[in-house]
Amino acid sequence: MDISSFSQINPPPRLLMGPGPINADPRVLRAMSSQLLGQYDPAMTDYMNQVMTLYRGVFNTQNPWTLLIDGTSRAGIEAILVSTIRPGDRVLVPVFGRFGHLLCEIARRCRADVHTIEVPWGEVFSADRIEEAIKKVKPRLLLTVQGDTSTTMLQPLEHLGEICRRHGVLLYTDATASLAGNRLDTDAWGIDAVSAGMQKCLCGPSGTSPITLSDRIVDEIRKRKCVEQGIRTAEHQQGDEEMIYSNYFDLGMILDYWGPERLNHHTEATSALFGAYEAARLILEEGLDAGIARHQLHGEAMLHGIQAMGLQVFGDIKHKMNNVLGVYIPEGVVGDEVRHLMLNDFGIEIGTSFGPLHGKVWRIGTMGYNARKSCVMQTLTALEAVLYRVGFKTVQGAALQAAWDHYQAADAYV
Ligand SMILES: Cc1ncc(COP(=O)(O)O)c(C=O)c1O
Repeated sequence: MDISSFSQINPPPRLLMGPGPINADPRVLRAMSSQLLGQYDPAMTDYMNQVMTLYRGVFNTQNPWTLLIDGTSRAGIEAILVSTIRPGDRVLVPVFGRFGHLLCEIARRCRADVHTIEVPWGEVFSADRIEEAIKKVKPRLLLTVQGDTSTTMLQPLEHLGEICRRHGVLLYTDATASLAGNRLDTDAWGIDAVSAGMQKCLCGPSGTSPITLSDRIVDEIRKRKCVEQGIRTAEHQQGDEEMIYSNYFDLGMILDYWGPERLNHHTEATSALFGAYEAARLILEEGLDAGIARHQLHGEAMLHGIQAMGLQVFGDIKHKMNNVLGVYIPEGVVGDEVRHLMLNDFGIEIGTSFGPLHGKVWRIGTMGYNARKSCVMQTLTALEAVLYRVGFKTVQGAALQAAWDHYQAADAYV
């Protein structure tokens, strides 16, 4: 093999303003380049314990079982679903975008009896509508998405925990795209399980999924406890119920690995853990509320700029996530041509869409490390110039001035 034809990794500089991934915070990248430790080195287990404490802060919870799943956000989702759903369990999924459909698919793979309610993309559910469906379906679990990046909508969750408890239902939410950019009060809202990912508001690269689990859901998982034969001792008790149908995603085993017994499971992804540790430190240093306010400020500046450009925004704005905006591609404009020019001539990436929105809507993110004024200003300037270039007439400069006005009004950030 001619090795000289493979150059050193040196990706082109990009400003990632799509729905995620976004540029990682340099502090996270630096942490990830630290030297490795052995898995049972007290320095390593101490970092694992610190990660648990830090992510309790990020998830706004006292849940002892708050830890990392090695794998992308989908790994966190799959670990929770495969570990909590028993074949034949009835689950209810309110679907308002692609990621609701993903929950249905994973639940079906776990042999759940899946029931759905749906609203058109661009809308969310009222708590009453969900309660009505719970009464009808009588599920064991309610599986929700908080922020569905495919539609940019944020499902209100604050009343669902109380409803679920009244009906004896376990509540899970996928907060991959919303955590740290939008309010999520895990304990106060009574959510039993939450999973997330690093590559959105958490300022890191994908590959790690932080999760948190209530005692109520851990009790259910423990009923299916299994200890790998090669490491089992006479003292280990297996659970009363059938084992979880995945080894890698068996949360019972993963809890035993992160817990005081440190029962060996996988080899922890040390570099990813270092990155997640630093990301949580960044978020908590800024303060959860301040971070959410920052996402709101820059999200609104982008919204004002886009509207001033004469573009239409997708979906019910009242329920928009702070960190992603759906923008209708104007008549006569080829969406991919604009994205291509943005990338090639400005080094800026904006997102396309999936399913029914494909070719109709761009998605523009302002999140994590890129929820910053300069990123918003650069993106608006470039988009306006590109649209003008492809023949869509805007009032030149209006977008930038509208965003500027917004920042000036929120003077703390000027
Ligand atoms: C809401 C939501 N859930 C799940 C995922 C899947 O995440 P990953 O690609 O990290 O597995 C995404 C990715 O964009 C997402 O936005």
